[in-house]
This record gives sequence, structure tokens and C-alpha cells, in this order.
Amino acid sequence: MPDIQKLHVGDLRVGMYVCKLDREWLDTPFIMQGFLIEDAEDIDIVAEFCEHVWIDTDYTKKISSYSSNVGTASSAPHIPIFEPEVSLADEHREIYKSFRQARSLTKSMLDDIRLGGAIDTQVAKDTVKDCVQSVLRHPDALLWMTKIREEREYTAEHCLNVCILAIAFGRQLGLDEKELENLGLCGFLHDVGKMRVPVEIIDKPAALTTKEFSMMKAHTVHGRNLLLSTSSLYTGAIDVAYSHHERIDGEGYPRKLPGHGISQFSRIISLVDAYDAMTADRCYSPAKTSTEALKIIYNERGKQFDEKLALKFIKTIGLYPAGSIVELYSGEVGIVIEANQRMRHLPRIIVVMSEDKKFLEKERILDLSLIEEGVLPRRNLIKQVWRDGSFGIKLRDYQKKGLVLKI
Ligand SMILES: [Fe+2]
Repeated sequence: MPDIQKLHVGDLRVGMYVCKLDREWLDTPFIMQGFLIEDAEDIDIVAEFCEHVWIDTDYTKKISSYSSNVGTASSAPHIPIFEPEVSLADEHREIYKSFRQARSLTKSMLDDIRLGGAIDTQVAKDTVKDCVQSVLRHPDALLWMTKIREEREYTAEHCLNVCILAIAFGRQLGLDEKELENLGLCGFLHDVGKMRVPVEIIDKPAALTTKEFSMMKAHTVHGRNLLLSTSSLYTGAIDVAYSHHERIDGEGYPRKLPGHGISQFSRIISLVDAYDAMTADRCYSPAKTSTEALKIIYNERGKQFDEKLALKFIKTIGLYPAGSIVELYSGEVGIVIEANQRMRHLPRIIVVMSEDKKFLEKERILDLSLIEEGVLPRRNLIKQVWRDGSFGIKLRDYQKKGLVLKI
């Protein structure tokens, strides 16, 4: 039986693991049922919503004795808030064309490798550098692009998305520009070994046989070998290509490395890779919503994923990230256009469908935080998150119409 202790919020301290609140979880900004108090700001937020909380003292002890083994990321004390250098609309205009170009260059690079060619290191380095510069100027513009999926472009899209998500997450973890470039390169090239696995196995719309699964798993070894034969590349990318399917509990592949043997960059790419893969439509499984993917990551923390990094990643992505398609209790449907950092269950949305699921002629913006002030009725609370394409709502169409999200 876990050791659970009831505490007044005044006695709450950084490092404690809260497992129960004196009110409904959904009425608070906390995403998951159970979270770590990471900084004084977390205590302030809990104090604003609750009088008492329950602490899992066993888990608190376990997590405080736990520390990741490499790199600066685990030592970052909290998630910093950065002020963007340029407006989101400006950055969006800046990167719109270059992102599409990067995607087609990535595709050509991967096609060349599949045909037996070498990795075009210049394409890889230039693409990653451009992504880092854009994320440093304003991360939301590129993150918005990762949400627009093109059918039949999965591998190129996945390489680029993992690169962008890793850079954005690395920025939140406090990595400097050079480290972000290295991490981005690891993300960009992590699955390059798949170009040595037959397409019929990669795209098989059914469960793989044992033999096929072994061939699929070998992409980690192929990736290592490909990168070993590539000169003038950051060598950490070799380790990540080889180790991004290792697990903290030692049950991963190809080497079943123990948790302490997995580098910090491999842990980060493992998380980001899983999140991006789960939120994409694949021939063998439909896309999960961001919330569903985060729940899986949460349940796998300390097993598949680094515990602290998983909790930070969940916090970074948030409960209703911009781009989520949400249905309200009223029946209306909208798209989240700006996450709310303090009250995460109350983002700003653009309502696109009426209560009877008819597209509105004139969409309207709704700031759900007005529910908290009593200005909007509670029937405007979010009832359910839906995936892209639900009710005929396609994010790509809204992006083309010029919708810009604040992520
Ligand atoms: Fe992989």
C-alpha cells in the first residue's frame, strides 16, 4: 500500500508528489491525476485551487532519489518562459515556404539513402540550423507546421517533426544554441536506418511477423552503421540512432541497455519520437489525439521513458495544445488557438461548428477563461478532444486560410 499523507497546501514543498486534490482534477490547471511539485509557482497554483492535497510519500522519496545520468537537461530547475523575438505572424510568414522546402529536401535525402546513396550532411545540417533559428525566434510557428500532416509523406515528415519537437523541448530544458543544433540533428537522423528496411515492412498495414519485427528493429543498427560511415557529423547522433528504442526499465532494443546506460539525448528523442508517431495516422493505426498520447507517456514514465523528462514533456505540450479540436458541453466544436498557461483547461478557441454540428458562416473566438470569471456559462467547458479530420475539420484547411496558432 502506498504511503499517502494529507497536507495543508501551506506545508507543500518542491519535490513532493501530489496524488490527490480536494477538488476535481478537471477544475484545475493540472493535466494528469498525479504530478510533481517542480517549483514555487506550482505551489502557488495549487494553493489557488485547493486547501488540502494528498502526497504519495513513497513516490516522493523515489523521485527525489532519482536523477538522470547525463547532460544539462535534467538539472534545469523548472520550465522557463521565453519571450519570443518576433511576432508569431511574422515568423509564420518567414518559415511557411522554407518548411515545405525542407520537407521535400528531407524526402529527397531519404530517397537517395534508400537507393544506396550516402547521407547528404549539408542538407541535414542546414535544415537543423534553420529549425533552431526559427524556434529561437518564435517556437510556435514551426510547431504549428508539425501539426499539418501530409498523406504519404510520413517518414520525411516524422524526421522533420522529431527534429523540431526535440529543439522546442530542448529549449524549454535550457539547452544552448549549439546543444539545440546537436539535439536537432539527433532527431532529424534518428530513424535514418529505416531506409535500409524493406518498404513493405515499414508500411505493412497489419501486425508484423516475428521475422519482420526483427528486420524492423534492425533499423537501429543500420542507422548506427550509416552514421558511422558519415564524416563530419555530431557523433552523438550515432548513439541516438542506435539507442532511441532502449527503455529505462532495460527492456528496449537492440541492446537491452540498463536505464543508466542510456544517454540524455537518446531519452529525449525516445519521448519525442513516440509522441510524434502516436499522433500521426499510420497504415496500421489511426492517429491518437495529443491528450491520448500524453496519457500513454505518463503511464510509461519510469518504464519506457525517463520519468522526469516525461513529466516535463507533458507539461511542455500541455493539456489542450493549440491545434486541438475540441467539443464543448454545449455541443459546439472549435479549434484551440492559444493554450492557457495558468488554467490549462481553459484555452482560447475559435468556434467553427454550431451545437448541431453545422459549420458556422462566421467563426468566433471564445476565451474559455471567462468561465472562471462567471462571464461565460459552464456549458462552454471542454467535453472531449477529437483528432484532426473529425467532423470534417481539417487543420490544413484552416492553416491555408491563414489561421495562426499560439502554442
Ligand atoms: Fe526508430
